[in-house]
Amino acid sequence: MKSPFHKILPSLRLVEMPDYAFGQLDEMKNRLVEQGRDLCDLSLGSPDRQTEDSVLKALYEGMKKPRNQKYPIFRGLPSFKKEIAEWFSERFGVELNPDNQILPLLGSKEGIAHIAFAYMQEGFMSIIPSPYYPVHMRGTVLAGGQVFELKLKPENNFVGDLDELSEDTLLRAKIMFISYPNNPTGAVVGKDYLEKVVKICKEYNILLISDLAYSEIWFDNHKPCSIFEVRGAMDIAIEFHTFSKTYNMAGMRLGFAVGNANIIETLYKLKTNIDYGVCMGIQEAGIAALQLGDSYREEVRLTYQERRDYLYPALKNMGFDVMKPGGAMYFWMPIPQRYIDANKSSFDFAIDVLENTGVVLVPGQTFGNFGEDYVRLAMVQPLEDIKRGMERLSLFMESQVSKV
Ligand SMILES: Cc1ncc(COP(=O)(O)O)c(C=O)c1O
Repeated sequence: MKSPFHKILPSLRLVEMPDYAFGQLDEMKNRLVEQGRDLCDLSLGSPDRQTEDSVLKALYEGMKKPRNQKYPIFRGLPSFKKEIAEWFSERFGVELNPDNQILPLLGSKEGIAHIAFAYMQEGFMSIIPSPYYPVHMRGTVLAGGQVFELKLKPENNFVGDLDELSEDTLLRAKIMFISYPNNPTGAVVGKDYLEKVVKICKEYNILLISDLAYSEIWFDNHKPCSIFEVRGAMDIAIEFHTFSKTYNMAGMRLGFAVGNANIIETLYKLKTNIDYGVCMGIQEAGIAALQLGDSYREEVRLTYQERRDYLYPALKNMGFDVMKPGGAMYFWMPIPQRYIDANKSSFDFAIDVLENTGVVLVPGQTFGNFGEDYVRLAMVQPLEDIKRGMERLSLFMESQVSKV
C-alpha cells in the first residue's frame, strides 16, 4: 500500500528560504582560478591570518587527553568558562557566574540560529536591524516566526532608529536583535543607544539578543560595550561572542553565549536535543586564545584599522559614497547609480567586478530587503593584496565612467 507520505519533499519553510547568494559567485570564482586569474577575495568574513601556534598546540595537547576524546561535558569545560568569565570581567566590568551564565557554542552562528528555535512561535516576530547578518533572519523564519526589518539608513550612520518601532510591532515582537559593530555596514553605537534598547525590551517583555561578534574589532574611539554593561539588561538579554574573528579561529568553530541564567538554560535545553556540546580540545584551544591577551587583540584590531584607513579614501576616490566603518571588517558600498538606472542589481555589479577585476564582493541582497543597491567588501586579505585588487577596481570604475 502506498504511504500518504510518499512525497519526499523538504519543508515549505526551507523551500521558501532564499539560497545564500554565494553559489553562483563561487562558480565564477572557480572558473577564474582555473584560468589562472589573480583573485582578491573580499567576500566571506573569514579572517586571512592563521590561527596562532599556541592555540593549535593547545588543541593538539587537549585532544591527546583520553577524557577529551569522549563526548564533551555538555555545559562546557569549567576551566574554559572560568577563563571567559575572567576576560569578561576585565574587558566589560561584568561579573558572570561560569556555572549558569556561560554556554560554549559550536561557533556563534549555531547559537544565534538555535535561540530562535528556543523562543520563537508562530504569530510572533523578531525585530532585526536590516541589512543583517543572514542568520538573524533565517533562524526566526525557520523557527516559524516573522521578521520586522528595522531599516538601517545612511543618514543615520546605519544605526536603527528606535522611534520607527510602532506600538503594534513592539507588542508582536518576541525577540529583538542588535549587532554593533555591525555586519555588513560597519556601524557602531554607544552605551546610550544600548540603554534605550534595554528600556524598550523591558517595557514590552522582549527577549534581547546581542550579537557581539566584533567586540574586539573597533576603530578610533568606538570601543564597543557589552549589553550587560547596561543596568537591568541581565533580566532580559543573551549575548553571543565568537573566536572566529578576533582569534582567527573560524575553522575551529568556537563561540559562546553569556547572559540571563534562565535564557542560557533554555538554549542549553534546546541544544541537548540537537548536539553534544563543543569538542573539549577546542575549548582548551579557546583558553589558549583568550590567554593571548590584550597585546594580541590590539595587534589584530590595528591590522583591520590599517586596512580601513587605506580603503576609505581609496573607495571614495573611485566614487563610492561609503561610510567610514567604526568597527567590524566591512565596507558597505553603494553600487554605481548607472547600474540602478539601468535596472541592474547588486548581483550584476558584483559579477561585473569579479569578471573584470578579480575582486570578489558580496551582493547586498544577501543581507536582506534593504541590501539591494549595495555590495559588501570584507577586509580579509593582507594590505598589499587589497591594494592590488583596488588598483584593478579603480581602473574598472574609470573605464565605466568613460562609457557614460
Ligand atoms: C555578526 C556576526 N555574528 C556571528 C557570526 C558567526 O560567527 P561564528 O564563526 O562564531 O559562527 C558572524 C560571522 O560572520 C557575524 O558576522
